Formats: sequence, C-alpha cells, structure tokens
Amino acid sequence: MWHTEICMIDEILKELEQVQTENDLTAFHKNYLSKTGKLTMMMAGLKDLSPEQRAEAGKRYNELKRAVEIEFFKKQAFLKEQAVNEKLKNDPLIDITRPAINELQGTLHPITHLTRKVSEICRSMGFLIVDGNEVVTEFENFDAVNVPADHPARDMQDTFWLTNGKLLKTQTSALQHEILKKYGPVVSAIFPGRCYRNEATDASHEFSFFQCEGMMVGKDISIANLIYIMKTILSGIYGKEIEVRLRPGYFPFVEPGFELDASCPFCGGKGCSVCKQSGWIEFCGCGMIHGNVLKMAGVNPEEYQGFAFGFGLTRMAMMQYAVNDVRLFNSGNLEFLRGIKR
Ligand code: PHE
Repeated sequence: MWHTEICMIDEILKELEQVQTENDLTAFHKNYLSKTGKLTMMMAGLKDLSPEQRAEAGKRYNELKRAVEIEFFKKQAFLKEQAVNEKLKNDPLIDITRPAINELQGTLHPITHLTRKVSEICRSMGFLIVDGNEVVTEFENFDAVNVPADHPARDMQDTFWLTNGKLLKTQTSALQHEILKKYGPVVSAIFPGRCYRNEATDASHEFSFFQCEGMMVGKDISIANLIYIMKTILSGIYGKEIEVRLRPGYFPFVEPGFELDASCPFCGGKGCSVCKQSGWIEFCGCGMIHGNVLKMAGVNPEEYQGFAFGFGLTRMAMMQYAVNDVRLFNSGNLEFLRGIKR
C-alpha cells in the first residue's frame, strides 16, 4: 500500500502550489503535516510492514515528508512577503520613500575616549598602561609616596575610609609604589584611574574623578626627559605642537617638584576664556621622584632616577568639551553624553 501513497507526492505538491492564502496554507498543514496529517499517519502505518520493507519505506517516507515540508516553508515565506508588500503598497500611513530613522548608536564616554587617546600615545613611546586598584592601603596612598603622617591630605575629611582600614585612592600616585616594586627599577608606565575625595560636590568638585599618572624610572633620567615626554603627550592629545613650562610646585613625592603649564591648545597662546586670557593652562603636577619613594620600593636612588606626573583626565575633558559642570560626567545623562562631539 505504501507504494501508492508515495506516488501521491506529485499531487500533494501540486495542491500546495495552488495555495493562495494563509488560511489555505493552514488547512494544507493540518491535512498533511500536522500530528494527525496524512503524511504523519503514513509513518505510523509502517509498523505493520516486515522489517526490511519498513527500513526502505521509512527512508522514502522521510524524504517525501521533508520534500513537502521544504515546499511548505517556501510557500509560507512567499505568502508572508506578499502580505507585507500589499500592506506597504496600500497603507496610507506607510511611506516607503521616507528616509530611514537612524538607529541610535552607542559612543565611548568622553573620559574613556580621552583615556584611550592618552594610552595610545604613551604606548607608542613604550609605556606600560597599568590598570590599578581603586581600593588601596593607607601605606600605598600616603606613606609610600612620602606623605608624612601629619600632612593635611590625610585629614579624615578628604579620604573615604573603608571599615577594613583600607581606603579609596585619593590620587593615582597611590599606585607608584606597587608599580615600582612590580616592574622596577627600570620602568615607564602610565596608570589612568578613578580617584575619590570625600568632599562636598558642586560644579567644579566631584567626590569621584579621573586622573592619569605617569612615571619613567631608569638610569640618567632627567627633567629634560620629563619635558620631552610631556610635550609629546600634549601635542599628541591636541594634534598640534604644544609648548610647556615648569614652575616650582610642592608635592611630597617629588623633589624638585613642579607645576607644568601647557600653551593653551584652544587659542594657540593668544588668550581665550579657557586659559583666562593668559595663553597658558595649568596642566599637571610633576617632578623628579623623591629618593624616599624609590627607596621604599627597593630602588636605589643613587643608581636610578625618574620623574612622575599626574594630571586630571576629568579636568582635561571639561576643557576639551567645554563642560562647565564636572558632575555631568558621572550623571549618566544621555542627552549630555550625546551632545559631546568626540
Ligand atoms: N598626585 C598629585 C595630585 O593629585 C599629582 C602629581 C603626580 C604631582 C605626580 C606630582 C607627581 O595632585
């Protein structure tokens, strides 16, 4: 009996070909392919055949059912497409000639964007990019960078202390010790990262902000190297030649210490609102790493010297994108983020 059934395939396919509507297609499915459909039932009938016949017939039935299924799915897709085309043609509310609405695209956070830019420039000069901890010890944040116990920076007001006695790093300098110990005594590294200070927030103060620290230690490293590296980093960031100048500055972990000014990248030194008409912007603290800092990390200051610098990535972003409220960077305000042209 199964031979006759198999001969029916042409007729079944012809019937499918004539299907014009989704309703007819549903009926066809019910009739042949559903659990109680003819093709499914035929499979069930195989159990009455002898084992040899059953193997051969089973194979044929499967092929047949598969062939019908393939045509069925093709028809289904065709009818769907036809329905959509009909709707597009006839629905007065759909205008297929209108330009598509752009999908909203994600972008890097401006701080991430700047961090990557700085990292790329430093990487090209052979610097390691180190991703340090946010939770550090009192020793790392203060003692190891030569901040004496009675220094005002240790004031409880400025530091977020954790119940385990550790703290949220108040400056990226907190990673100097670990990096010197891990990679020293010859090392060039930058370590961008989030810092925390326990202070009231307003348009120019945030309890959490980003800094980028840099360090170069080796034999015969001098202030000339510091100036060259800072000039290269700044010129790379702003895409133009930037001049730098040093003024004396005090930081416990450098001696001599400096404040570094950069020629204003926004007006080229002529004077503008960003540089307050001076032609220079205060860019960062820097200096030659204090002998105590090297010694505490097991580096002999008689043999090795180095410089360190630390600048505010958040502050840089404020200048770069003319943002007048620092709190916006942590706000998650999409309108603000979308408005920034990177
Ligand atoms: N850590 C200093 C600050 O937060 C910056 C600095 C880093 C100064 C390295 C000198 C050398 O202001």
